[in-house]
Amino acid sequence: MSSSSPSAPPSTVSSRAPGKIILSGEQFVVLGAPAVAMAVNLYSEIAVRPSQTGRIEVTADIPLHLVGGAAKRSSVAENQELLEPLRLATSATFDHLATKDRGVHIDANCQIPIGAGLGSSASTTVATICAVAKSRGTRLHRREIFKLAFIPENYLHGHPSGVDQATCTYGGIIQFKKPSKIKPVDIKRPPVILVCDSGVHRSTKALVKSVVKRSREQTERFQTHLDEITTISNAVVRALRNEDDDELGSLMNRNHELLRQIGVSTPKLDRLVAVARKAGAVGAKLTGAGGGGCIIALCDDKKGRSNIARELRKVGGTIYNVSLDLQGVE
Ligand code: PMV
Repeated sequence: MSSSSPSAPPSTVSSRAPGKIILSGEQFVVLGAPAVAMAVNLYSEIAVRPSQTGRIEVTADIPLHLVGGAAKRSSVAENQELLEPLRLATSATFDHLATKDRGVHIDANCQIPIGAGLGSSASTTVATICAVAKSRGTRLHRREIFKLAFIPENYLHGHPSGVDQATCTYGGIIQFKKPSKIKPVDIKRPPVILVCDSGVHRSTKALVKSVVKRSREQTERFQTHLDEITTISNAVVRALRNEDDDELGSLMNRNHELLRQIGVSTPKLDRLVAVARKAGAVGAKLTGAGGGGCIIALCDDKKGRSNIARELRKVGGTIYNVSLDLQGVE
């Protein structure tokens, strides 16, 4: 194993990891096209302490009130369903480290709304892996964290591409291609981005499954889309490096159109995108799996972002003023 060698761990250790947005290539990344994603300053924090029970115990403060409407109360069963990935992340880390003593208490505190396409599961998962390893005196390499995160992510999402956990692990902006090509995109000036949540929360697993099914039925059509998305993601990287917001905005608009064509947008997301563009966004698109969740809008500057936010709030959107996270999992 390539991790650094063990040393005596403190009794409680913690790690945090950012959330993420996808600038281009979601859904198509599962089919093999490159995507570009950005880590954002919404975090999940995981605290790990020893437990005398000899078992893995998990508790969490996850913004469940954002799932399916403000009035929703989660049941114990739903809580267990949400906590299972963290249990899997913990046992995968113990297996990796060949740890015998599995008595541990994991406490998750997540600021990222779940089911919104902002990487809540990947963020909590990679922070858990990092913190559990630390609790056993080992600092894992990012590549190891990325790989281990497939175990809980596969449980939750079926066959995810890995873009979410790659972004939450490495931070910054990355170009990602399956199975594990992670290329950091160094930029001087981060784009000014607004995230707007439609409030409709959904399952990435079901959406990805429907797109994969359609891609098998319409191979030629999807091949054309994949070629175009490959061109778009490469051009997004160039536009970011060249600080060319006009180009970046029109690439985002075109990407949204392709997501619409494969059926993962919704009238509500299209409306939010249209309102953002009308209010001055340089470009706007849905981000993540679609079917609900969030849109992102590229803004001229912070003043422009406030104007766009005001218009989006009027049509029921919830705004997150995000900025670039450069650290990844800590
Ligand atoms: O879970 P979300 O909404 O952040 O979607 C992740 C991105 C997808 O491309 C839709 C799925 C994947 O595994 O890449």
